Amino acid sequence: MQAAGAGSKVAQMADERLDFDAFKQGLRDRDSRKKLLTRDGRPFYVLISQQFSGEEIETLCDTATAIRRLDRHREGREFLRTVLRGYRIMNLFAQPSTRTAQSFMAAADKLGAVSKQVTDLSTSSFAKGESVEDSVRTLSSFFDAIVVRHKDDDFATRAAWALSRSGRPVPVISAGSGRSQHVTQSLLDLYTLRYSFAERGGINGKTVLIIGDIARNRAARSLAYLLTKFGQPRLFFACPEQYQPDADLRSYLEQHAIEVGVHDSLDYVLRERGRHIDAIYVTRLQQEWDSGGAPGQDKLGAADGFVLKPEYRELIRPDCVVMHPLPRVNELPDEWENHPGFVVWRQVRNGMWMRAALFASVWGADEEIRARARRLFLI
Ligand code: CP
Repeated sequence: MQAAGAGSKVAQMADERLDFDAFKQGLRDRDSRKKLLTRDGRPFYVLISQQFSGEEIETLCDTATAIRRLDRHREGREFLRTVLRGYRIMNLFAQPSTRTAQSFMAAADKLGAVSKQVTDLSTSSFAKGESVEDSVRTLSSFFDAIVVRHKDDDFATRAAWALSRSGRPVPVISAGSGRSQHVTQSLLDLYTLRYSFAERGGINGKTVLIIGDIARNRAARSLAYLLTKFGQPRLFFACPEQYQPDADLRSYLEQHAIEVGVHDSLDYVLRERGRHIDAIYVTRLQQEWDSGGAPGQDKLGAADGFVLKPEYRELIRPDCVVMHPLPRVNELPDEWENHPGFVVWRQVRNGMWMRAALFASVWGADEEIRARARRLFLI
């Protein structure tokens, strides 16, 4: 498999003129976002949910399904391991992770790429004061892509900006950017929702309730942005008053004519609307941000008012999809595991398939993957 090169010189030269603030500002506009974040029509820097169109997400989902089915087939599995052979991926995780870090590595492994991981920045030259720019330019000498999680909202964006001005740009994929976005989590969530609603007319027109700390939960925020790409879903948020959706998210939802309801009582929403809700996305309250983004040992659970209590099962339909990006503390009790709509462990597994699809898309290998799956009558 011959994966595509680093991208067109023209786009790169255009980017060289931008300082960081202009690059960041450019991400707010659809056309300039496309120019800054894609190369040859493919995602190159993966930073925010808004950068994807509905059609691109559908294609990613189809690729994820092709990979999932090929992986179960002897010839398909052997083929997959040749797709990104020779590629090297750096996982730079400056915040804790179980699922995201391991699923990125498993995804790379499925496609034959090699992953390396740095999780403790105190063992890197960041500890000597090296800038983000110099650090990622150095890593781009040894790796073909950088996957990055950091507590700073702008770290991944700054890495992408620095590389876009360098002589050796390599893809940057955010694996969680501070409080702002967790774009690959929202892609896998969307893939899971799409599967759940496949026999029920798709995501368009569905009602989704997102529970938790919307202001600081990057998974919840990214999913809300991404849902705007699928027709006209209705979105309810149940969140503590101080952690309501911020102005940026609200205005984006408004621009996309999404019907939104924000409530500070989960109990009220479920009693009033429970039978109309098609999916519930539970999230953890993000108390670690009270101590600057570092996980603490205490006060990690949700207050009683934001726990999806087992007795709430009576208020929703049996076909309501129940999701959580994990990790969970107390907000989604184990009693939910046998609810027919509980898909949390499917989300986890889908993380690997969706991240593999994203790698394939970044390097232009996705069409061949889907073609191979079609030839083997798998899709
Ligand atoms: N969902 C998620 O981001 O999990 P991790 O923090 O374990 O990666």
